[in-house]
Amino acid sequence: MNRSLITGTGSHVPSVILKNQDLEKIVDTNNEWIIARTGIKERRIVDGETTNDIAVKAAKNALKSAGTSPKDIDLIIAGTVTPDMLFPSTACFVQSHIGANRGIAAFDVSAACSGFLYALDVADKYIRAGISKKALVIGVDVFSKIVDWKDRNTCVLFGDGAGAVLLSAEKGKRGILSTHIHADGHYGKMLYAPLSINSSPFHKKSPEHSYMKMQGNELFKIAVRTMGEACQEALEYTGLKAEDISLLIPHQANMRIIKATAERLGLPEEKVYINLDKYGNTSAGSIPLALDEAVKKGTVKSGDIILFVAFGGGLTWASAIVRW
Ligand code: UT7
Repeated sequence: MNRSLITGTGSHVPSVILKNQDLEKIVDTNNEWIIARTGIKERRIVDGETTNDIAVKAAKNALKSAGTSPKDIDLIIAGTVTPDMLFPSTACFVQSHIGANRGIAAFDVSAACSGFLYALDVADKYIRAGISKKALVIGVDVFSKIVDWKDRNTCVLFGDGAGAVLLSAEKGKRGILSTHIHADGHYGKMLYAPLSINSSPFHKKSPEHSYMKMQGNELFKIAVRTMGEACQEALEYTGLKAEDISLLIPHQANMRIIKATAERLGLPEEKVYINLDKYGNTSAGSIPLALDEAVKKGTVKSGDIILFVAFGGGLTWASAIVRW
């Protein structure tokens, strides 16, 4: 059976940097609190660019690093919960703007911060089933457009960013060894962003503002427990042990959640990739952005075992293990 080999990675973040000190001027917060409670020092915020724009740039960078023509792709999946439009999808926009062939499959998946790993899970299944030979998988979010910039509980946490990988069907031992995706909609209201767009004259309910809302403290505890369990599930499925992991690339939501996840696995600091300090929580963009950075720095070497784990709104959570 074919495996999905990651043959290229790419990312893009907007150039505007919003530092903690800048946020002190907008809401009642301070640099010390943000660093101590989250680990975030700054984040990137779009100023003119859109979700589609940054997704296209990340996708082009992934294709360039793979040395693959857009004409060779047969599937595009984008994980996002901040698309520019309800339809067409972000993936369809990317298809037309990178010059991919007409008629290929292109669609989005909605799984908040787990969006990239959800998209990776689906693409991997297409490849293993022999349906796809080359799939472009994108994680992208622009939370700056749904964050309430008057709410200090949330606006300090998020940033905008996109990452992408190219998957190729290959035989051999390298590639994606496992993917697992999960959800629990019973906790949906712990982290959500309503759409207030019903313009029907028959719809009498007054619209809720579309800002995202979060019960951070409760989520924190669930995130620590769930990400730990997701890592264990991935290890058990692949028959690997924690000491076999070369690098953990977790969703970058909070330094304390990342450290607790690594501690549960008994992983030393140098085996955990963290770039949250520079980008904040970029939701579905977070894992592919961190992966691309790790690859470019030379942190990832052929044969390395990489464990990815994510947690987010839905609630959703997911993992993947890759032999690089
Ligand atoms: O992306 C995936 C899903 N997201 C997550 O998994 C996020 C999970 N949650 C978290 O990361 C953390 O809960 C937060 C970073 C959101 C909050 O940290 P916390 O340590 O749980 O703080 P808290 O909500 O318990 O608030 C502690 C105090 C409160 O003041 P009082 O009531 O103790 O006087 C807050 O009002 O900190 C206050 N506070 C702030 N102070 C300064 C909350 N936000 C801020 C702020 N600046 N920005």
